[in-house]
Amino acid sequence: MPSHQQPQHNLIGRPERPHGPRRAFATAYAKINLTLDVLGRRADGYHNLASIMQTIALHDTLLLEVAEDGQLEFSCDVPELNTPDNLVVRAMELLRLESSRSDLGMRIELHKETPAQAGLGGGSSDAACALTWLNQMWGIGVPESRLVELAAQLGSDVPFFVYGGTAEIGGRGESVTPLPPAEPLWLVLVKPAATGISTAAIFAGLRPGDYSSGASTALLATSIRAGRPIPFEHLTNALLPGALHLFPEIGRARELLLDAGAPLVCMSGSGPSLYAPFRRLDEASRVFHRSQEAPGLSVWLTHTV
Ligand code: C5P
Repeated sequence: MPSHQQPQHNLIGRPERPHGPRRAFATAYAKINLTLDVLGRRADGYHNLASIMQTIALHDTLLLEVAEDGQLEFSCDVPELNTPDNLVVRAMELLRLESSRSDLGMRIELHKETPAQAGLGGGSSDAACALTWLNQMWGIGVPESRLVELAAQLGSDVPFFVYGGTAEIGGRGESVTPLPPAEPLWLVLVKPAATGISTAAIFAGLRPGDYSSGASTALLATSIRAGRPIPFEHLTNALLPGALHLFPEIGRARELLLDAGAPLVCMSGSGPSLYAPFRRLDEASRVFHRSQEAPGLSVWLTHTV
């Protein structure tokens, strides 16, 4: 692996001991898409993307404990996510299958802070965090390249979270090229109360005019590699027009952020979450406090990590 592809961060917070502790907290950061270009539709129904993803400080927390009885146990403090089809459970099962060691057990408690189905990759990050930590705590030594392949089986956004930090994404999400850390930014993050946003529906609503060559992503990647400030004017999301059409709440939340003084508002992933980037805390803080007064919005003041 060329040196520039080495992960720059230890953002998933990998355990330090070679075979890991028996019981540990792990941090699963959320993400935003700084750019999201859609290149075209594929024969398998997915879309080829070019995107710059960035982890942010908003995060879920997992408590992992090696279970000597060989059981896989999971619980989550959000009842709707406390189910056997949670991606964390699927990650546990997938990695144990990969290890061919049916005696390996783990108990995981998941505390959610990142809202689900928000375009922030919460569930995907939880799954990647579980894969990475289980690999260490079970001491099974699955190589990172294979962890990324397993991650892709769980969902298009999961491979990115095996690395975290700043990365360029290609394919349907499985191609991840870590970048040097992008310029640090404060973020006012807003989630409109839009319910039932389905990633599949947003992708299905794409029109030919929404496709591009991926120039915005290429340009941003070049800036980040050169250590230059982020060119805010090139932050784009091809899924935004369709999302605004399907979910008027997103447009209202965007207007509200602009009225609160945000110079620029972007959508993360397939939405509905929006973010406004800032270089100065006082500016971010002013917009954050004004946006908090709006009913029906969840608002965070956070930052890139
Ligand atoms: O892979 P994941 O389950 O996250 O994707 C959810 C849905 O989003 C897919 O079934 C597909 O309809 C759409 N999608 C897509 N192109 C991508 C990623 C997702 O069309 N690159």
